[in-house]
Amino acid sequence: MTKLVAISGSLRKASYNTALMRAAIAMAPAGVEIVEGTIRGIPLYDGDEEAEHGVPEAAAKLKDLVAGCDGVMLFTPEYNNAIPGVFKNAIDWMTRPPADIARVFSGKPFAITGASPGNFGTLLSQEAWLPVMRTLGTRPWFGSKLMVSKAASVFDADGKLIDEATEKRLRTFVEGFAAFVQDGG
Ligand code: FNR
Repeated sequence: MTKLVAISGSLRKASYNTALMRAAIAMAPAGVEIVEGTIRGIPLYDGDEEAEHGVPEAAAKLKDLVAGCDGVMLFTPEYNNAIPGVFKNAIDWMTRPPADIARVFSGKPFAITGASPGNFGTLLSQEAWLPVMRTLGTRPWFGSKLMVSKAASVFDADGKLIDEATEKRLRTFVEGFAAFVQDGG
């Protein structure tokens, strides 16, 4: 069984990115399990806290999840044409020691997508993640691009994906990434 971890970069209950992530999880092809990881509970990075207490529990838990998976999918919002601070903060914590899994992203197949109510569907935020994930040594998958724009009309009030075209594109995205991981990334 191939195991992928999906992480949404929004804390909002009604988050479009979390809704997109859950729709992707439900589309896992046969032989693939997609597990939801969460950034909830990860505090702001503080080197003094780290020196005293190490990596906080919520960050360590997410880090362990990534360490034990075959590939990572990020569902990123876009704030001011860039990466939301809460999401970057979570990933930053996950790159800290202990040394045995300090480089948890190294060599890990990685895919990124995102949703926004605007016209560009997180294009710039997704681009902004690339140098970060390159620094962390991930193996990015560029087989398909998915920017979900006008998200208010793509999901219903319960976060269910209701737009057929987006559903089709999401399925192509999930299946393409899963095949990449299964082929050895
Ligand atoms: C935004 N939003 C936004 N959207 C976008 O497409 N481009 C942008 O640059 C920004 N900038 C921005 C800054 C800040 C501080 C906030 C709070 C929001 C809108 C954003 O896409 C919208 O709030 C989404 O709903 C956020 O994603 P979730 O929480 O729905 O997953």
